[in-house]
Amino acid sequence: MTYSIVADGLVKRFGDTVALAGVDLAVRTGSVFGLLGPNGAGKTTAVRILATLVRPDAGHASVGGYDVVASAHQVRQLIGLAGQYASVDETLTGTENLLLIGRLVGQSRPAAKRRARELLAEFRLDDAASRAVKTYSGGMRRRLDLAASLVSRPRVLYLDEPTTGLDPLSRNEMWDIVRGLTASGVSVLLTTQYLEEADQLAGQIAVVDHGRVIATGTPAELKARTGARILAVRPAQPADLPAVVSIVGRLTQATPTVRDTTVTAPLADSAVLPAVVRHLDEAGVEVGELSLRGSSLDEVFLSLTGHRASAADAARDRAAAGDGDGNTAGDGNTAGDGDGDGDGDGDADQQELQDARERSKG
Ligand SMILES: Nc1ncnc2c1ncn2[C@@H]1O[C@H](COP(=O)(O)OP(=O)(O)O)[C@@H](O)[C@H]1O
Ligand SMILES: [Mg+2]
Repeated sequence: MTYSIVADGLVKRFGDTVALAGVDLAVRTGSVFGLLGPNGAGKTTAVRILATLVRPDAGHASVGGYDVVASAHQVRQLIGLAGQYASVDETLTGTENLLLIGRLVGQSRPAAKRRARELLAEFRLDDAASRAVKTYSGGMRRRLDLAASLVSRPRVLYLDEPTTGLDPLSRNEMWDIVRGLTASGVSVLLTTQYLEEADQLAGQIAVVDHGRVIATGTPAELKARTGARILAVRPAQPADLPAVVSIVGRLTQATPTVRDTTVTAPLADSAVLPAVVRHLDEAGVEVGELSLRGSSLDEVFLSLTGHRASAADAARDRAAAGDGDGNTAGDGNTAGDGDGDGDGDGDADQQELQDARERSKG
């Protein structure tokens, strides 16, 4: 097995901030390695060190066998970097941007032209090639940014949050491009806040939080790590949500999470399952869906760090935490998605949700 990137004990401080507190990682050649963590975890700092843009305060890293400090020049010949923020020039056209970069990396004018044409076609930007980048959509800019990082045909590619802010369609397009790159032997270090993205693309994942790697493994290994399985119950009638939350909470002895109209909770002992079914039946709850499954990466992240990976999920948790009576039926249940049956219980739920929101503000 060969490794394209190896990092040992990387430490980086900015004043009092410890951005990296001793990070180890190893990226197998021709694979995608996912560095997964929330904002401020230290992902970009790790990428910048591996791209020779900043020096570590302690630790070592090598890319393609070259030390990132002692042999920075050789490392730069091997790598491409598509940063978190678009690095192309807005006022230039797609073609002009790629030509400029080709010339900067020492390609002859005809070679740079050829490469630009090739990349624009590959990333479906040929129609927009002679338009200024400022007229591009978000997805097109990201594709151009990625194309720009590939002008010199790097064997090692850093993608720093390549899909943050993109719509699902553009995100899927980027994923396909990344898969194509690894198929051609490129090693990719991908940073992301999205568990699904790491799950989709990465063979190996390192979960980082506060400058430390808190878990590593394949997506499946990470999911298996927590051991617990997840019980999910969706009542056929949204009005039954409070009853389901209370039954699931009592029997699993965990605080259930509510998303849309599905109640989930970790289940340590699957022997509890028949009791859940019995209690639901006794309470007259008609069950729309009931399942027991392995943990998602999202739940793994929560159990490892005590907080969610993405800002949206964290906000949802904060809203839930404001619901002081422990009845979480209201959270994540946006107005109109559940209580459309017009009965009195639905109104009561709405009131409860409203109250919870008020409390969470104060
Ligand atoms: N140039 C810098 N100066 C001061 N603090 C920085 C600098 N770069 C990063 N940091 C801090 O280091 C921590 C890690 O940042 P970063 O590596 O950008 O995280 P991520 O990419 O995971 O969001 C954060 O607390 C950030 O504010
Ligand atoms: Mg970052």
